[in-house]
Amino acid sequence: MKPDPLTALVEISNATVWRGDTCALRDLSLTVGAPENLAILGPNGAGKTTLLRLLTRDLYPVRKAGSSVTLLGRETWNIWDLRRHLGIVSHDLQMDYAPGACGRDVALSGFTSSIGLNGVRYRFSATEHDRTDAVLRQLGIADLATKRYSQMSTGEQRRFLLARALVAEPQTLVLDEPLAGLDLQAAFDFLRLMRELIATGVSIVLVTHHVNEIPPEIERIVLLDRGRIVADGAKREVLTDRLLSALYGTPVRVRETNGYFVALPG
Ligand SMILES: Nc1ncnc2c1ncn2[C@@H]1O[C@H](COP(=O)(O)OP(=O)(O)O)[C@@H](O)[C@H]1O
Ligand SMILES: [Mg+2]
Repeated sequence: MKPDPLTALVEISNATVWRGDTCALRDLSLTVGAPENLAILGPNGAGKTTLLRLLTRDLYPVRKAGSSVTLLGRETWNIWDLRRHLGIVSHDLQMDYAPGACGRDVALSGFTSSIGLNGVRYRFSATEHDRTDAVLRQLGIADLATKRYSQMSTGEQRRFLLARALVAEPQTLVLDEPLAGLDLQAAFDFLRLMRELIATGVSIVLVTHHVNEIPPEIERIVLLDRGRIVADGAKREVLTDRLLSALYGTPVRVRETNGYFVALPG
């Protein structure tokens, strides 16, 4: 069932987005409810990251009549208000993050929406420090709080970026390929964290190109192909042999085990 636009977290209408010479999204419309868990699936280059960056307002669509991106019914936001609604963990952020920051500063920087705390003059309140400690404990990284970002493993960096996204207690977490580059243990740990967060009432908008990275709790799937939505609906109706074979341009067989879906060569 499609969410009611009046209660939507995000409503994108007829958005066309160019990245250089590439039309990354073509007249795309998508409504995400609040709360709602959603996975956006598509091959490399499909436009998934571009779509997330519309949500987070790092990118804007071409201006034309009938085209808009609204968040909780509003078109304009400042990052201070936005961070309570959307927490973001992305590959870009992981690559760009300040290498010298210690783990705790990475988490604290979620309050200031900054990359590291160098030059940040904000005085964190006792409540903000307490909240940060609680999140680090929740994610099992409190003992890494003094470790430098540049000396962390990919999995540790990703957990601290998740902590950064969580300190402001956002209603929705936006995760761009959160399991990319993680070994099985780190990937399964991160999946478990996603499931725990959903259980505590956080909504997740997950972007991935692997069906097996979708936690069972996410029931709505959007398929993105060359900048267009080609399917949007319930998991069992969307993650089918036919639709995934067409999406990836290769024969795919889908199997379901304990709420997880796996894609096999057809
Ligand atoms: N900064 C950029 N400059 C030019 N083209 C870009 C840029 N970023 C992305 N693109 C192009 O836009 C399309 C969509 O990219 P992206 O949203 O990153 O896809 P995905 O995340 O699904 O892999 C791709 O064809 C990609 O090559
Ligand atoms: Mg991407």
